[in-house]
Amino acid sequence: MNENKIRVAVLFGGVSSEHEISLMSAESVLCNLSDQYEVLRIGITKDGRWVEYTGSNEEITNQKWESDTSLRTAVVSPDRSHKGILLLGKDGYTVYPVDICFPVLHGKHGEDGTIQGLFQLAGIPFVGCDTISSANCMDKEMTHTILEANGIRMAKWVIVNEQKMQDFDAFAQQAEEKLGYPMFIKPANAGSSVGVGKAKNREELKSACETALKEDYKAVVEECIEMQEVETAVLGNENARAAGVIGELVPVVEFYTYEAKYIDGTTELHIPGRVSEEISLKLRQTAEKAFKAIGCEGFARIDFFVRKSDSEVILNEINTIPGFTSISMYPKLWDYCGMSYSKLLDNLIQLGLERK
Ligand SMILES: Nc1ncnc2c1ncn2[C@@H]1O[C@H](COP(=O)(O)OP(=O)(O)O)[C@@H](O)[C@H]1O
Ligand SMILES: [Mg+2]
Repeated sequence: MNENKIRVAVLFGGVSSEHEISLMSAESVLCNLSDQYEVLRIGITKDGRWVEYTGSNEEITNQKWESDTSLRTAVVSPDRSHKGILLLGKDGYTVYPVDICFPVLHGKHGEDGTIQGLFQLAGIPFVGCDTISSANCMDKEMTHTILEANGIRMAKWVIVNEQKMQDFDAFAQQAEEKLGYPMFIKPANAGSSVGVGKAKNREELKSACETALKEDYKAVVEECIEMQEVETAVLGNENARAAGVIGELVPVVEFYTYEAKYIDGTTELHIPGRVSEEISLKLRQTAEKAFKAIGCEGFARIDFFVRKSDSEVILNEINTIPGFTSISMYPKLWDYCGMSYSKLLDNLIQLGLERK
């Protein structure tokens, strides 16, 4: 162990539907952390096993890491006298103390506050949002409720669950009156467009709700906005700031699906996004306000719609652990503003260490 280095545990993989995206993000993070860090890599398999991985970073994205012969069980100890990772071998365990944990995990049990709760219990500093803000950003019903109470405009919405599905026609009528077709249907807690659908009539609404409710016990139904899709990058703790440039996504398919995001490459990115200076400023200011209102710390990518008819700025969602490959929007926006990917990692770790 090198006494002068900051010891970072990087966690990757995870049980969510975004496991593969996490592997891609983690490979970039691991390849770009400077040598001021001593890095312990903890992989979480899809079925939830935690292991220390000591092989090459390149084998992370191709899944070969899971069959590495030197894997050993590695878990975050909730015992505050350890402040570190328990490594389990044949002859018992050793404690590997760490200065900070960096969860490079997306979606369920990575970005939803659960693992953040473990770090909080353990008394180990970590990168990014805490338990409560992570959970509130993950849950689309909570995001709507908190941000709207703080005067931030989001799409008009209603909530649907199994109980409402039992009297579907009454629910549909209420949604039609408030939202009109087409509507967007999204599981309250999912991510990466899993279970997201669009409905042009009552029949499609029903099947889209059923699909979304397979992912979660509740789903958000929203008015469909004719829009330009733009993203902002916020960084910091109490005085968090949005990057001075915003990004724009142009999906080539009907909407920004999981496949378009990660598989087909059928999405065009524009940095800077094609909006006026006035709209760009409004987006960045709204992002900073939302970050603060919901209690974020460290970083978040905050996504918006700019409505085509009147340029209204409508917040879509807050991603507390955004995609983090070197070509992902969040690091790209900072890079455009002069902060390299490696420098961004240094800043994130510093922000995690500074937080009390
Ligand atoms: N209310 C809406 N109106 C129009 N398009 C929407 C709306 N909500 C979502 N979309 C489209 O669906 C995509 C996925 O929805 P989003 O809320 O970002 O879910 P996820 O958490 O899965 O990323 C968005 O990127 C956007 O293209
Ligand atoms: Mg999204």
